Amino acid sequence: MNGTVELIIDGKPLELPTIVGTEGEVGIDIATLRNKTGCITLDPGYGNTGACKSAITFIDGEKGVLQYRGYDIAELAQKSTFIETAYLLIYGELPTTTELTEFSALLSENQMLHADMRFHFDAFPPSAHPMSILSAMIHASSSYPSPKTHGKPLSESFPYHAARLISQVRTIATSSYRKAHGLPMSYPKSNLKYTENFLHMMFSLPGEEYEINPEIVKALDLIFLLHADHEQNCSTSTVRMVASSQANVFASASAGVCALWGPLHGGANQAVLEMLEEIHREGDDGTKFLQEVKNKTGNRRLMGFGHRVYKNFDPRAVIIKEQCDKVLAQLHKSDPLLDIAKKLEEIALNDEYFVSRRLYPNVDFYSGIIMRAIGIPMDMFTVMFAIGRMPGWVANYKEVMDDRESRISRPRQIYTGATLRSYKPMAERA
Ligand code: CMC
Repeated sequence: MNGTVELIIDGKPLELPTIVGTEGEVGIDIATLRNKTGCITLDPGYGNTGACKSAITFIDGEKGVLQYRGYDIAELAQKSTFIETAYLLIYGELPTTTELTEFSALLSENQMLHADMRFHFDAFPPSAHPMSILSAMIHASSSYPSPKTHGKPLSESFPYHAARLISQVRTIATSSYRKAHGLPMSYPKSNLKYTENFLHMMFSLPGEEYEINPEIVKALDLIFLLHADHEQNCSTSTVRMVASSQANVFASASAGVCALWGPLHGGANQAVLEMLEEIHREGDDGTKFLQEVKNKTGNRRLMGFGHRVYKNFDPRAVIIKEQCDKVLAQLHKSDPLLDIAKKLEEIALNDEYFVSRRLYPNVDFYSGIIMRAIGIPMDMFTVMFAIGRMPGWVANYKEVMDDRESRISRPRQIYTGATLRSYKPMAERA
């Protein structure tokens, strides 16, 4: 039911149309508000603002629902792979055998970096955070156009750009790890699939090939798949905003990496592990730490808990928790940090502070423990999130570019600064 709502400003009514999504979500279309009334809406953090229409991902935070292109995340987690899901997100449908073969071939074709890009890696100090290397290198990628795409319109070159980003984000990530650890660069192998190749490029040493463990491959592929898209979060909205100026897809994706880095977003997986390590170091079982969180001592937060949209549970966290137990059992690893995480979860889920604020574990609460068990260093955790999220960013970029009604993103503000005043010469300033 597309209807209208009436807004009364200073006694004057204004009729605004409503728009209803395919899952029944209702939005009030305020596009004419400022022109007709001079007013704007104010919504810090955009908690109530729909910035676009999108057909990629649906979330119902109240019910813990997450769907990519209409497919439930739990079903995809069980039956699909990261690469098949990437195709689904970008092109809208699950691929046929031929489409998947062609997509995989494009990924393989684009997995190597331009040889000159090694000079960029060499310029980073060993202490550089892999997220800063990742954003810089993705951005630099746009300076090395492939002969197959050079000078071609986006409609023709897009599949190459998409494949290059998804494939090279993995190569850049593993190269930054190896650079930081003083290891020689490693190269993808044509007989390995996407996630296997990631593990090979990370961990193979000269004369010592990394042994592929199918359970680890499955767990990592699942982590990538669960992170592949999440509608209008901070980094994806950033990608869309940059894309709205018609910047290229590499610049847009690089901006997404920057937005993802912060501890309230993708950086939370690293922050969770740091928090668990600190609790462990202090000999606490989590009880003292939670008390500090509740007292807001030093503005502490229980990292890996809470979500702007999910208010009952994060469906990704449920899947990942199960996988976490499997991986640790498979690797015969017990992890004291996992015990602390479980204790924190148990207390928090029954504590009035967290219950009343509807704070539940999110995807980052357990993903770090799996990655740690696999041997991925902590400062690479957010990079892993970025590898997973790349298809979502690319899909959103495509949606912006394909939308003929798309306008440059340009929010308004309510100005709260000084009103007009005259310039004072230095001698007259107090
Ligand atoms: N620990 C303790 N208190 C919290 C937490 C937390 N993790 N999250 C929110 N609160 C409290 C907050 O202090 C506030 O309390 P009060 O009403 O007394 O002022 C109330 O809950 C509402 O918080 P908010 O900051 O207004 O909520 P938000 O929707 O703006 O923030 C969030 C969402 C994810 C940034 C926040 O829950 C948080 O900081 N969580 C920890 C970081 C984290 O795990 N981030 C990963 C999110 S999932 C991955 C992704 O998609 O990015």
